[in-house]
Amino acid sequence: MEEDLMQQEESNDSGDSSSSPLNSPLRSTRLPLQRSNVCSRAYFVVVMVFFHVYILNVIALLLYVHYNNGPGELVSGDRASSASVSEIESPLTHSAPPSGESYVEDYSQSFSLPRIEGIRVGHIQHLSLVSDRTHEMKTLSLKPLLFEIPGFLSEEECRVVVQLAQLKGLMGKQTTASSQGQEESNQPLLSLSTEEVFSLLDLNQDGLLQKHEIVSHSRSRDGTWLSPDNLRQILTGLEACPTGMLNLEEFRRVYYVSQRSGQERSGKLQTQFKQRNKHTWLYQGLGSHHVLHTLRNRVTSLTRLPSALVELGEPLQVIRYEHGDFSDAHHDSSPAHSETTCAHTRLAGNTSSLREVSCRYLTVLFYLSSAEEGGETTFPVADNRTYNEQALVQDGVDLTDTQETCGRGNLRLKPTAGTALLWYNHLSDGRGWMGELDEYSLHGDCPVKHGVKWVANSWVNVDPDYQQQARYQRLVAQRHRAKSGMEEYYQPLSHSDLHQDL
Ligand SMILES: *[C@@H]1O[C@H](CO)[C@@H](O)[C@H](O)[C@H]1NC(C)=O
Ligand SMILES: *[C@@H]1O[C@H](CO)[C@@H](O)[C@H](O)[C@H]1NC(C)=O
Repeated sequence: MEEDLMQQEESNDSGDSSSSPLNSPLRSTRLPLQRSNVCSRAYFVVVMVFFHVYILNVIALLLYVHYNNGPGELVSGDRASSASVSEIESPLTHSAPPSGESYVEDYSQSFSLPRIEGIRVGHIQHLSLVSDRTHEMKTLSLKPLLFEIPGFLSEEECRVVVQLAQLKGLMGKQTTASSQGQEESNQPLLSLSTEEVFSLLDLNQDGLLQKHEIVSHSRSRDGTWLSPDNLRQILTGLEACPTGMLNLEEFRRVYYVSQRSGQERSGKLQTQFKQRNKHTWLYQGLGSHHVLHTLRNRVTSLTRLPSALVELGEPLQVIRYEHGDFSDAHHDSSPAHSETTCAHTRLAGNTSSLREVSCRYLTVLFYLSSAEEGGETTFPVADNRTYNEQALVQDGVDLTDTQETCGRGNLRLKPTAGTALLWYNHLSDGRGWMGELDEYSLHGDCPVKHGVKWVANSWVNVDPDYQQQARYQRLVAQRHRAKSGMEEYYQPLSHSDLHQDL
């Protein structure tokens, strides 16, 4: 087109330049240089180049505004997931890893956690997560920031995950803690006698509790029958003891104190958390079933987080709720605290910190089946005007007790096979990193009245301490590199070995 115009101009010039009344006054004011054809073409070219640059600038500006406002309504499919997400989200996931190896170096410079915008309750965003269809993502609440994505899994995928969980032995030994609760579902799980607790803690059975025995218990994360608070109290008691060990008598005293103070301090939320269900863990890393692999990539696309972070998350937790099964309202993550350390970064951390907690930036919950009746997921305080922990339990009504008060929750969601829920357990710290625990993310499972409910939880673990998370990821990369040095083809990130003890 440019070519054409130039030729036209040329012919105009050469044709009747002298006879044109418009051209001649203009030309006469110009310098003699303008007379030649070559120079007037150059002038035209300059104008056209300027014009094109201007248009390109406008287009670039429009694109910039578009992608900065709504961080990509469209998210790429399973296959190309991380690469194209990081293109769209370049300001946020600037250093998102194109390959698993190199990201850790960039990490320390700029690594932030994208957050999906809720806009308002009922707002719908369109996602392209798989190649053959688009998904709608609906904002369900802003406190917590909660989304629903119907049809996130196909029927077939739901079935495969359920079957894999059954294969993994969902009914088997992994359920000791919850099967206890099943026998005595109306009592707190903490129904062991002091002697039993002592004996369980006394690993070498010498009738004395040494410090390492208590500490090792806190690290096993098998804290269903002793809360981390209890353990800390017991340790404090032990340290006050001149011998540095506790016999049964001393333990009795310390244990009694730890139980009392635990109840006074944290009330129901920690000491009497009740649930009744069965669960298992499915690894999603290298060598896992392709459906599990696909699912994890889809979570990466959905959350828009760097894929390395999602890959380092806990394995997929699959839970089965039969008739009457439930879980009390709880938070999936933990408040940041100077005396706590995130379980997932303990490798990089201080072995002397005692209390390990789960640090889960967000939860993606999948309904793998639709319970016929009951089994709703409840968010008792979603979008409540204010949050007040005391108000959860008052006038004999306990909003965290899903067996009694499920119907009173602010938001209840009926399980529908294939639907995914995504919510953030933490607020943003305002600088692109994970901030405080979002109290509003309190949620529980109402008792199943008819049918069986299967759900799966996918968690993305992040340490609120940016440096600690950075150290941890460096460490993982080092381990990985050491390994891949020995086995050349062992390239993709696979950290199932780190999760063996979860
Ligand atoms: C470990 O803890 C000690 C004291 O509690 C502290 O001085 C040190 O900096 C910590 N190290 C790391 C890596 O956090
Ligand atoms: C929910 O909001 C109301 C109104 O502000 C308040 O009275 C009530 O205590 C809140 N509930 C909880 C559990 O915080």
